[in-house]
This record gives sequence, C-alpha cells and structure tokens, in this order.
Amino acid sequence: MHYPTFPKACTSLLCKYFTPEVFEALKEKRTGFDFTVAQAINSGVENPDSGIGVYAGDEESYEVFDLLFDPIIQEYHGFSKNQSHQSNLNPDELSTVNPDPEGEYIVSTRIRVGRNLKDFPLGPAIDKQSRLIAEKMISGALSSLEGELKGEYYPLLGMSKEVQQDLIEDHFLFKEGDRFLEAAGLNGNWPEGRGIYHNNDKTFLVWVNEEDQLRIISMQEGGDIKEIFTRLTSAIKQLEKQLNFSYNKHLGYITSCPTNLGTAMRASVHIKVPRLAANMEKFKTITDRYHLQIRGIHGEHSKSEGGVYDISNRRRLGITEVDAVQDMIDGVTALIAAEKALENT
Ligand code: ARG
Repeated sequence: MHYPTFPKACTSLLCKYFTPEVFEALKEKRTGFDFTVAQAINSGVENPDSGIGVYAGDEESYEVFDLLFDPIIQEYHGFSKNQSHQSNLNPDELSTVNPDPEGEYIVSTRIRVGRNLKDFPLGPAIDKQSRLIAEKMISGALSSLEGELKGEYYPLLGMSKEVQQDLIEDHFLFKEGDRFLEAAGLNGNWPEGRGIYHNNDKTFLVWVNEEDQLRIISMQEGGDIKEIFTRLTSAIKQLEKQLNFSYNKHLGYITSCPTNLGTAMRASVHIKVPRLAANMEKFKTITDRYHLQIRGIHGEHSKSEGGVYDISNRRRLGITEVDAVQDMIDGVTALIAAEKALENT
C-alpha cells in the first residue's frame, strides 16, 4: 500500500488526519477480522468530497487504527479517548412532547438507531455467509414482534420491481449505488442478505444489512416526537431480548461509520421553513447553536424541495439518546420561532 494522493481541495476528516506518519504507523496492521487501514480509508480516497471518509470493519478497528479514528471522533463528536458513553432510552425524560402542536411546520418525524451484532464483523468486513447468518438471526427476532410492531420482512433478493418501487417512493427502502457505501465495501453481494421489515401502519421499520446490520426506524407524520421515540425504544427493548448488540463503555453502540457511534441515533424532522431558507445564514446560526444538521429531503447528500428541510441532531456520542432527541426538539422549537417571526415582518 502506498500513501494515497488527495486532491488539494479535499476537506474530509480523512484528508485532515491521515498524515504520512499515521499511514506509516498503521499500514501493516490488521484486526481479528483481517481488516486493514487501506480498507478503512477507501471510501474517502475514492470520494474526495466525503465529509468524513472512513469506515470501521469491526469493533477492533477503532482500537487498532486509533491513530486515525480518535482525532476524527474527537472532531466530529467533541469526544475524547478517556471519556465514556452513557445510554438513556427513557422517553419520559423528554421535556417536550411535540414542538409543533398545531402541525403547521413539521411534516413528519423519523428517529433511527443503528445496531450491529456482537461478535460479527461490521458490514465493510463481513463475508457473504456471515451476512446471511446475520440476516437470519435478525429476521427471526423481528418475526416475534407483537402488537403495533408486528409486520413482515421483505428480502431484497427476489423482490418484485413493483414492491421495490413502492417502498422507494415511501422513502422506506435503501437504494443500491451509494458511492460512499460502495467504496467502503458495504455493497458486496448486493442484494443478497439485505431486506426491510415494516409494520402494517408503516410507522416502524428495520433495514437489514445496509450500512449497519440493523437500522431500527420509527416514523410518522407530524411532530409527536415522544410517541415516535416511545415506539422506537420499546422495539429496541424487545429486540435486545433476542439479539446481542455490539456495545462498549467508551464508544457506546458500535457502528461502521464513526459519525454514528454512541447513541447511533439520528432524530429528524421534515420541516417547512421557506422564509428561513431564504436566509441561510440565519438558518445555519440556529442549527449550529443546537448542534443540528441540515439535509435535503431525499436523504443524505440530497437537496431541499419547496422549503422543506430534513433537520437532525449531529452529535451522537458522549450524549444520551434523550439528549440527542432533546437537541433536535430544542433546535426545531427555535427554528419554528424564527420562521414565525419572519412571517410577521
Ligand atoms: N462517508 C460519507 C462521508 O464521509 C458519509 C458519512 C456520514 N454518513 C453516513 N451515512 N455514515 O461523507
């Protein structure tokens, strides 16, 4: 392996922290699942427009390649090597139920967490057979869910084009072809071993073997964040009875992308704020203050449509799940107040 060449304009955290010295120190190392630093950095090397640019192949990657991952984790989450992570999935500790009770601004709300199975490699290092075993374990656990969470698992392999299209239009399905995941090695043997589970109301879904082995998602129209968080946490609790998730005291829940470590939670709303959108500087001042991220409404790296934005917590590690959702609630409350003020000018 040679030291990669990065374009001058590269601004990813990989470019910033993968110095020739770090490369020298890590180039010969391998994890128990045989993951190398060349694999960890490939997505950011092939996609110099990455924000981050690195993925872990297993829990051990975060230790073996700590010289690379630690400064990235520090910068993204503001979380240092000697800190530990704390989880809190109690919905009763949220201070607000719904930041938009009149339903004027929040179109929909979605909260997801990533999870991976203990003792399995993460997606970038998993082979076909282990991926299929993981799928079996997960779909088995899902089939035991009851009540509101009861639903069906749809494997991608052999899925009809119609079902597939329906799910994509509902924003339910993950698509193949994301170049960041592709270069990370996350699309191997596509679409085998992948699938989606959803309940009858389509308010609870689980992606299987996408970027993480599980993405557990609770969503519905409007802004009743407490109801959505409650559904999610009760699903997590039920699944934890049957599946052992990868977790450690320092990094919390282990995920393939370092941005998702800790809570592995992204709490987001689609919010209609056309006036703020016309004043991006003001918009960004508020989202920065509350540690929020602005995205378009067709997922990551997409654009906004009709003044509707996807707003979510940016920090995931070193804060609890309740804090992560609270970041989002507080920020959204401030955004709505600012939008209202602009309506009256
Ligand atoms: N690897 C991509 C980048 O560095 C995505 C990072 C965060 N998003 C994610 N889905 N893990 O820009």
